[in-house]
Amino acid sequence: MGARVIVVTSGKGGVGKTTSTANIAVALAKRGKKVVAVDGDIGLRNLDMVMGLERRIVYNYIDVIEKNCRIAQALVHDKRLKDHLYLLPAAQTRTKDAVKPEQMKELCDQLRPDFDFVIMDCPAGIEGGFRNASAGADEALVVTTPEIPAVRDADRIIGMLESMGKSPIRLIINRFRPVMVQNNDMLSQDDILDILSINLIGVVPEDDSVIKASNSGEPLALDQNTPAGEAYSNIAARILGEDIPLLPLDAPSEGIFSGLRKMFGF
Ligand SMILES: Nc1ncnc2c1ncn2[C@@H]1O[C@H](COP(=O)(O)OP(=O)(O)OP(=O)(O)O)[C@@H](O)[C@H]1O
Ligand SMILES: [Mg+2]
Repeated sequence: MGARVIVVTSGKGGVGKTTSTANIAVALAKRGKKVVAVDGDIGLRNLDMVMGLERRIVYNYIDVIEKNCRIAQALVHDKRLKDHLYLLPAAQTRTKDAVKPEQMKELCDQLRPDFDFVIMDCPAGIEGGFRNASAGADEALVVTTPEIPAVRDADRIIGMLESMGKSPIRLIINRFRPVMVQNNDMLSQDDILDILSINLIGVVPEDDSVIKASNSGEPLALDQNTPAGEAYSNIAARILGEDIPLLPLDAPSEGIFSGLRKMFGF
């Protein structure tokens, strides 16, 4: 069969692609899948830091493409999830034009036989970096925050992914703040879905622990005890086809959970 290759993309920068890639990869690995997270952000790599693996990098996939090493030598094993989680790092000192889409596709194809999932972190923008990172992917996860500029860029990216034949293309709404939605200060989940018309795979709340986790290199999904960690764990379950209902805090604004949300103030 081979791996499902999923690109995590957004258009707009800083909306949570790298955070989502790391946490979804961890959550899938925790569920027993063999996963490799690939840093598609050449030159501005930071998936290694968010995963806490930066000190263990020796080679990167440009070395693989340029035949300086074998792919197995470039893979960094995450010992916290023994035999289940790996990182394939990008080069830090090269630019996005160091590779071509066909080479990235070939790289993904080389990974397929050995993994259940290849999760590719995409750089911001709609240029070459996006083209490279998405070239080898079957499916896409589009990350947006509940802000008009992010949603507009997500719309643009969805059109491009559709024209590239990616399927399914599913949406993650990140940094969601129910109180702001209730006060009509933020787009609701329904507003965003009306604009984008794709399936929602999860809503990740604004959560200070995400920032602490990025700084310490301990992805939240390693230990599900945070709202964002739980949201990522549920997204991983939905990727695996499990029918997991949305959490109270990510339920539609007029849904059965709205009373609960009001009661708890989130
Ligand atoms: N749910 C969240 N709650 C709080 N902070 C978050 C959340 N998601 C992401 N962040 C923070 O937002 C910042 C940007 O996140 P991240 O690096 O994942 O975005 P990105 O889309 O990969 O950015 P870039 O386009 O630069 O690659 C980080 O500081 C991260 O810790
Ligand atoms: Mg990033």
